[in-house]
Amino acid sequence: MPFKKILLGYDGSEPSKKALEKAIKLSKTLDAELHIVGVIKPFEFAAIDYIPPEEIEKYEEEELKKEEVILKEAIEIAKSHGVNATFRVMEGDPAEELMTYADENGCDLIVVGKRGKGGFKRLLLGSTAGNLVKYANQSVLVVK
Ligand SMILES: Nc1ncnc2c1ncn2[C@@H]1O[C@H](COP(=O)(O)OP(=O)(O)OP(=O)(O)O)[C@@H](O)[C@H]1O
Ligand SMILES: [Mg+2]
Repeated sequence: MPFKKILLGYDGSEPSKKALEKAIKLSKTLDAELHIVGVIKPFEFAAIDYIPPEEIEKYEEEELKKEEVILKEAIEIAKSHGVNATFRVMEGDPAEELMTYADENGCDLIVVGKRGKGGFKRLLLGSTAGNLVKYANQSVLVVK
């Protein structure tokens, strides 16, 4: 069964760069769309501290900008291989947001690296990759 809409979870880490390469090759071979999604962490603060809303807004704007730079790099790499990919920044838990994106956009394959930027080297599989394998409705390719 061919895949027509591929979702790549991208966090800019080395394993996710490897996953990007594979996703580019797959989308060319299968003539499939490539969607690249990066998930940023929501603002976290202790309930006792008062944080002015402007500060939260500033944090979100800065995080969004940083994430867009990372995703646009991935888009450029895809473009240099002749693949026109789309990108989107989401906010929340990475695995949950990637699953939501895949469900809402009719993606039929999710591609991720085995680890990301947060992980301990000794872990074989990061929690984002693991949760996607366990809970996603779509097939998941974990690039090693
Ligand atoms: N915030 C994110 N946005 C988009 N994709 C992500 C994000 N975090 C991880 N991924 C995808 O999942 C892959 C595996 O990363 P994962 O988060 O599972 O490992 P980790 O960061 O090493 O471990 P952990 O997050 O459990 O500490 C990455 O290579 C990337 O493809
Ligand atoms: Mg991670």
